Amino acid sequence: MANTPNVQPITETASPAQLVPGPQMRVVIVGHVDHGKSTLVGRLFHDTGQLPDGKLEAIEEMCRQRGMPFEWAFLMDSLKAERDQGITIDTSQIWFRHGQREYVLIDAPGHREFIRNMVTGASNADAALLMIDADQGIRRQSRHHMYLLQLLGVREVAVAVNKMDLVKYDEGRFRAIEAEYRLYLEGIGITPRQVIPISAREGDNVATPSERMCWFNGPSFLETLPQFAPPESTAERPLRLPLQDVYKFDERRILAGRIESGTLRVGDDLVFSPSNRTARIETIETWNTDGPVSTASAGMSVGITLNEQIFVERGEIVSHEIDAPIESDVFHARLFWLADKPLEIGAACELKIGPNKVKAVVEHIERIINIDSLSDHKATCVSRDEIADVIVRTSQLVAFDAHETLSRTGRVVFVDQHLTLGGGVLSLGDYPDQRQLITVRGTNLTEVDHRVDPVRRIARNRHKPGVLWFTGLSGAGKSTLAMGLEQRLFDKGYQVYVLDGDNVRTGLNANLGFSPEDRAENIRRVGEVAALLADAGLIVITAFISPYRADRERAREAAGEAFHEVFIDADVATCESRDPKGLYKRARSGEIKEFTGVSAPYEEPSTPDFSVDTSGRPVDECLDDLVTYVTDNFITARERQ
Ligand code: ADX
Repeated sequence: MANTPNVQPITETASPAQLVPGPQMRVVIVGHVDHGKSTLVGRLFHDTGQLPDGKLEAIEEMCRQRGMPFEWAFLMDSLKAERDQGITIDTSQIWFRHGQREYVLIDAPGHREFIRNMVTGASNADAALLMIDADQGIRRQSRHHMYLLQLLGVREVAVAVNKMDLVKYDEGRFRAIEAEYRLYLEGIGITPRQVIPISAREGDNVATPSERMCWFNGPSFLETLPQFAPPESTAERPLRLPLQDVYKFDERRILAGRIESGTLRVGDDLVFSPSNRTARIETIETWNTDGPVSTASAGMSVGITLNEQIFVERGEIVSHEIDAPIESDVFHARLFWLADKPLEIGAACELKIGPNKVKAVVEHIERIINIDSLSDHKATCVSRDEIADVIVRTSQLVAFDAHETLSRTGRVVFVDQHLTLGGGVLSLGDYPDQRQLITVRGTNLTEVDHRVDPVRRIARNRHKPGVLWFTGLSGAGKSTLAMGLEQRLFDKGYQVYVLDGDNVRTGLNANLGFSPEDRAENIRRVGEVAALLADAGLIVITAFISPYRADRERAREAAGEAFHEVFIDADVATCESRDPKGLYKRARSGEIKEFTGVSAPYEEPSTPDFSVDTSGRPVDECLDDLVTYVTDNFITARERQ
């Protein structure tokens, strides 16, 4: 077979580091285990003139002596075995240059190892070649590998229908497989660059067009490589530098890590997530350059020093203030489960997000996706080799990106010590980014103490202060009960005041709508106001949907012990049948977007301090319960006598 002229062979002494730097493309070769991946790579290596002299003959001779048929895969195995002698092959990667680009062909290891490498981020690819055996047709792994790759963001795909020699180069067989697989790819949103009939063993359509398949007008595999669009330049994307280590030298601290995306420059203002601390970058230290550098970008491992010694830890993500990562303690993950033990709802688990390890609970399994039929169903656990959408709540705020936006920092791995249990991609979905809620912009602040002792306020009011935080769906009865309770308590002589959603949203919170972030800010402000009013000695009743648990927890933190979460409990069907403001009807018709319970989420309290079930009960009866609760919890023993 003639060598293809525009391929530059790599000699035995070359190594990846010695190749001329230039655009590089990582192409992973995947598919069912017997579908001919190694054979293709062996053949390609031979046909592009990259085999060391005499190597092919030596292997052929060895096969003859042992009475075995020659296999291209033997040749690759033998090259791998010799990699210590400087050949540019490691266990699964082969470098070669073709045209303007350097390619890394990644020969995917066994099925499970491949999945593990991909979900942990140990391996990544810009493009994929999927091999299908023409004789055997499409197998489960043909679909599973591709599904995983698209999940991880690989969109550049070519398909090789291999072993065409076994089906006598039959066009009909090829077209049937092509049609079936294109349909699957379409289902997962991928249009392949090419679907090529090849025989890796015989060299048909590998590096040169096949004379045995004149019916095929498309390019060979080698000619397809340049069609893959180049990977997006990550240097232009938002800066992400996850901190791997913080070293202390004398008084200096050097923060070290690998820049996953973006560019940083000396003098840049940085924010560390999730601590939200800020500082300016003073120097960039690199290991491989002679002098100091003033800028560094994606792919480089760097150390940085700051203009002030702030306390930051391993695991934080360094970014610019604009385009900072998301901060949340609840998010969606689409994950590939690898462990034998199924993942169950409520399971405590440990997650790796970047260099960070956090404790978490799987709060909900939204759906299991059938990778073959692309349909989904409900389940209470995720079994081995299944793909699932889950909602995860972590024990602390974590910084990450939506995988769609920035793939390298949008990954999660479920771990148990050093074992990988599963992994996947992150998104925020309906949840708010909590960054703004915890950002403190004021500086040089010194709090002052009140001179009126809270005990004196209690003595004068003859009740303890506190916050009765009503939460529940629209139409559950929050406002009705809040106003009724206010009246009853006032009549008893208590200092009481209602903060109601619809009222506050026309004044203090008039600038907020119903996006997840606006709702979170709505509740943050109300939580702070309620805490202030309670501090002034009042019993405050709040009537807000407050759909997110994290926001209610923050309101609890603001008010401290005086906070009482009261669940005004009525399900969507009941609220919808009441529909006092006609909003459910408008939400169902699509007129109102992001309506709680219809098109926006509501997270029920898991352990409320008090619950009032309002379905089918008269208002007065509910109020009696609430008055008793207030008397039990707010009225001092002396007053009760
Ligand atoms: S919260 O979600 O931010 O806590 P809040 O209690 O302040 O909501 O306001 C809810 C009230 O706003 C509802 O009772 C309803 O009258 C009105 N409203 C308007 N649009 C929406 C919406 N998309 N979802 C829920 N309530 C809405």
